[in-house]
Amino acid sequence: MARSKAFVTRVIPEAGIERLATAYDVEVNRADRPLSPKEISERAKGCRALVTLLTDRVDGALLDLCPDVRIVANVAVGYDNIDVAAATERGVWVTNTPGVLTETTADLAWALLMAAARRIGEAERFVRAGRFHGWGIMMFLGGDVYGKTLGIAGFGRIGQAVAKRARGFDMRVLYTDAQRAPEDVEHACSAAFVDKATLLRESDFLSLHMPLLPETHHWLSEAEFKAMKPTAYVVNTSRGPTIDEAALAKALREGWIAGAGIDVYEEEPKVHPDLITCENAVLVPHIGSASIETRNRMATIAADNCVAFARGERPPTAVNQPAAAKA
Ligand code: DGY
Repeated sequence: MARSKAFVTRVIPEAGIERLATAYDVEVNRADRPLSPKEISERAKGCRALVTLLTDRVDGALLDLCPDVRIVANVAVGYDNIDVAAATERGVWVTNTPGVLTETTADLAWALLMAAARRIGEAERFVRAGRFHGWGIMMFLGGDVYGKTLGIAGFGRIGQAVAKRARGFDMRVLYTDAQRAPEDVEHACSAAFVDKATLLRESDFLSLHMPLLPETHHWLSEAEFKAMKPTAYVVNTSRGPTIDEAALAKALREGWIAGAGIDVYEEEPKVHPDLITCENAVLVPHIGSASIETRNRMATIAADNCVAFARGERPPTAVNQPAAAKA
C-alpha cells in the first residue's frame, strides 16, 4: 500500500523528521523561508499531514487549497496561527506541543527578568562599544530582584513554572487568571490569587503567560502601565499582541515603568521602532522555547501526532475534535 505523504513547512529538528518518516514520505521546505498559502498548497499537494510553525497562517482558505490534509501538527504550544474552527469544520485534526517547553520558556522569562532588572543589554552594548574605561560606583544601577513581588498574568503551566523559580529569590508571588487555580497548585507555587488591578499595583515584576485571545489582546496598554509602579519591570514571553507595543514604548520612555524584557512582538518579525530605541528594554527574537532539547521534543511530539493519526489513533495532543474525522 502506498505510504501517505507529509509536508513540513520549514526546517525543524531532524528528530521530528525521522519520527515522521516512520509513517510518511516526508518533504521539507529546506529553504526555511515562510511560504505563502499558494506555495504551501502546491508543496503539500496530496499530503495527509501538514507540519506547521507559528509563522504559517492556517485558515479555511489554505485548508481548502489542501483538500487531502487531515492533520495539521503545529510545532508550538500556542496555536493562534491556526483557525481551529475552520479545521474542525473540515474534518482536520489540529495538534500542538504542550508540556515539553514549559521549563525552557520559564527559564527565558527569568533570564529576561534578570536582564531587565540588571540592565544586562545596555551594559553588554557598552562593553562591546569599547566604552568601559574603568569601574564606577554609579554605573548601570538597576533594581534588586530578591525579596520583591512577582506578578504573574496567566497561571497555566508556564506561569506556574515561573512562580516556582521565585522561591530561590524569596519573592512574594501574586497571580491573576480567568479562573483561580486549585488550592494545591497555589500552595505548590506559594502564589496568591489577586485581581488585575491589584496585580498591576503591587508587582515589582510582571510576567505575562496567557494565550492570545480576544480578551487578552492589549491586556497591557497605557492605562495599565500608568497603574504600575515606576520601578516595575514587565516581561513577555507569551504572545506579542497581549501588549500594546506603542504604549509599552511610551511607558518605558516616560518612566511609567522601569524596564521590560520582551521575547514576542505585536507584528513579528517587525518590532515597533519606538521600542527598538528604548535602552531600558531587553529585546530577544521569540526564543522562549529555543533550547536544543526542547526543540527536539517539540518536533518529536508534532511527528508523534501525525504518526498516531496514520495508525488510525487519536493524535495524543489534539486541540480539537474534527467534525467528521476521517482516518
Ligand atoms: C510556542 O510554542 O507557542 C512558542 O511561542 C514557540 O515555541
